Amino acid sequence: MAFDAVIEVRSVSKRFGGLQAVSNCSLEVERGSITGLIGPNGAGKSTLFNMVAGNFAPTSGQIIFDGQDITGLKPHELFKLGMLRTFQIAHEFSQMTALENLMMVPGDQPGESLSTLWFKPGKAAAREAEVRSKALDVIDFLKLGHVKNELAGNLSGGQKKLLELGRTMMVDAKIVLLDEVAAGVNKTLLNDLAANIERMNKELGYTFFVIEHDMDLIARLCDPVIVMAQGEVIAKGNMEELRANPMIVEAYFGGPVEAVR
Ligand SMILES: Nc1ncnc2c1ncn2[C@@H]1O[C@H](COP(=O)(O)OP(=O)(O)OP(=O)(O)O)[C@@H](O)[C@H]1O
Ligand SMILES: [Mg+2]
Repeated sequence: MAFDAVIEVRSVSKRFGGLQAVSNCSLEVERGSITGLIGPNGAGKSTLFNMVAGNFAPTSGQIIFDGQDITGLKPHELFKLGMLRTFQIAHEFSQMTALENLMMVPGDQPGESLSTLWFKPGKAAAREAEVRSKALDVIDFLKLGHVKNELAGNLSGGQKKLLELGRTMMVDAKIVLLDEVAAGVNKTLLNDLAANIERMNKELGYTFFVIEHDMDLIARLCDPVIVMAQGEVIAKGNMEELRANPMIVEAYFGGPVEAVR
């Protein structure tokens, strides 16, 4: 079957003043994959992600999302097209329950978020019931039923991460961008998080694009893995292949092969 790319990054560069953060990068994220992006500190991973997610425009190059040129589009426009990035539960949402947090995610029909529908009571009630039922499905899928009525602020770190993941399911994302989702999560919770990412991928068909420093998580979840160093894409392959390549190990860690094991 032909390669079906959800994201195509074409010769993208980003310069900050005198600093070339991303330099003529091209890469693709295949539909249905969990694609990893790794590289040493300062490699340009977050800069690349920020361009894909619309946080800032490339200095040059193009970004294609699901066949459409999205270069320069803003995050809220990309959100409507089905590109989601997880963010920590914001402070103002910590006083809402887990279920309410999911219900707050804007609806997939433009202009039909719950807040705009509050002016049309009949329609609003139907829509709210639909959103609640969807939120309950997401809660079920992530096995968060026992904490659905807890305030988000009282959830454990791992449960908050699951809730962040759950928000991407409220709008049927075409791609989910995860930037260092493992940071600050202990091993047990990380396993749980990884298992849910896997289930979302395998059972529901979600595509993920993942930046991660945790090599165990990358090795478990991601295929392929794209390696960046000094603003450039230097390799792509599965983790086994990359670990077997001394050039990659050297460029990535500047050290011996043991460092990646
Ligand atoms: N907004 C910005 N303004 C100026 N320079 C920036 C900006 N964002 C990133 N940089 C620089 O661009 C380069 C790439 O940074 P980036 O954050 O993309 O790397 P990274 O691969 O995500 O690193 P890390 O693994 O540490 O998160 C770095 O030299 C960084 O200092
Ligand atoms: Mg980064």
